[in-house]
Amino acid sequence: MTRMRSRVLVLVLVAVLVGVCKGGELRKNFYRKTCPDAEFIVKNVTWKHVSNNANIAAKLLRMHFHDCFVRGCDGSILINSTASNTAEKDAGPNLSLAGYDVIEDIKATLESTCPGIVSCADILTLAARDSVSFQFKKSMWEVLTGRRDGTVSRASETRGNLPPPSSNFTALKSSFKNKKLTVHDLVVLSGGHTIGLSHCNSFSTRLYNFTGKGDQDPTIDAEYAKTLKNICSPTDTTTTLDMDPGSGTDFDSDFYTGLLKNKGLFTSDAALLTNKGARNIVNELTSQAKFFTEFGQSMKRMGAIEVLTGSAGEIRKVCGKIN
Ligand code: HEM
Ligand SMILES: *[C@@H]1O[C@H](CO)[C@@H](O)[C@H](O)[C@H]1NC(C)=O
Ligand SMILES: *[C@@H]1O[C@H](CO)[C@@H](O)[C@H](O)[C@H]1NC(C)=O
Ligand SMILES: *[C@@H]1O[C@H](CO)[C@@H](O)[C@H](O)[C@H]1NC(C)=O
Ligand SMILES: *[C@@H]1O[C@H](CO)[C@@H](O)[C@H](O)[C@H]1NC(C)=O
Ligand SMILES: *[C@@H]1O[C@H](CO)[C@@H](O)[C@H](O)[C@H]1NC(C)=O
Repeated sequence: MTRMRSRVLVLVLVAVLVGVCKGGELRKNFYRKTCPDAEFIVKNVTWKHVSNNANIAAKLLRMHFHDCFVRGCDGSILINSTASNTAEKDAGPNLSLAGYDVIEDIKATLESTCPGIVSCADILTLAARDSVSFQFKKSMWEVLTGRRDGTVSRASETRGNLPPPSSNFTALKSSFKNKKLTVHDLVVLSGGHTIGLSHCNSFSTRLYNFTGKGDQDPTIDAEYAKTLKNICSPTDTTTTLDMDPGSGTDFDSDFYTGLLKNKGLFTSDAALLTNKGARNIVNELTSQAKFFTEFGQSMKRMGAIEVLTGSAGEIRKVCGKIN
């Protein structure tokens, strides 16, 4: 009997603990009561910006990735440096991040409707989805909300958390594993490279000095390499080009078709073919329908990395500055 009772007690305790943790989880339409128009406003302002500049979708998608991989999806990428702190956005890999003004525009609109309610971390997550979705005029994946904003942003935490484009498969796998993401997530999310631009210096060693002997990466398609060399000199750090040639603002499964033809731009893209399991996933994702479904699911997992919820962190007044 006592054994039975203690078992019941343990069960109740477990249930209570689970309940407490659940209170701090992300959920669907977190702002339903506190700011009912929040998600509409994010979409509305995001679409206004993307309709003026189609490149914004790639900027916001990448910004969300960079936010989530450093200290979780807590809006830390949005914080400006101060006299005493160099923030994430001023670290090496920030080179082409842009769209901070879009996030501040959304935030300002939300502050005038429901001040102090909607986090910058949620705004960025929603805006990444909405900017990619503009092309389709419907939401491409579900975004859970309830994130809170972090109060720390350090440039020094960027390296070591964001894999460089020179990464091999082993490095990519472990980088994603550190964020509790799988090889499947890695291959699916790399499909984000179906939109956007890259600077020449993100891949030019593949063209000019792959092993330090003035050579070219033997795994890159020869014609593609020739085209790239015509655009990028060995020392070019300013020219940009479409990562997915010919459809750089189209969100589609072309990334995988190109990749299978050895036309992945980065070593990190090409690396997805060097592992049998990953290569099989690449093959599957050439199906557009499959890619769209899987991308939404992996984005949901990425959007949940180390989130602050409940009463952790804060709700920033402006996204570029902690309160
Ligand atoms: C797997 C590891 C990844 C590596 C090594 C990587 C690396 C890079 C690099 C080097 C660039 C070009 C930066 C430049 O030269 O301006 C880039 C651009 C981009 N990345 Fe990734 N990336 C990775 C994963 C992701 C993920 C998970 C996403 C989102 C789901 C993403 C979305 C983008 C987008 C949209 C751009 C274009 C940005 C623009 O147009 O400004 N990347 N990435
Ligand atoms: C944003 O909302 C306003 C007011 O409802 C509307 O007039 C406008 O067309 C919307 N813009 C977009 C891009 O949906
Ligand atoms: C990127 O970081 C460098 C310092 O590493 C800084 O000089 C530069 O202004 C930053 N770029 C952007 C767009 O924030
Ligand atoms: C992959 O890259 C890491 C880090 O640069 C390196 O230590 C490792 O030897 C590489 N692995 C292979 C299989 O090339
Ligand atoms: C190629 O790489 C090697 C080794 O990293 C370096 O010593 C050499 O200067 C590089 N050559 C060029 C042209 O950048
Ligand atoms: C952050 O820095 C940018 C660029 O210097 C500036 O335009 C913006 O107003 C700053 N935001 C805040 C909140 O200080």
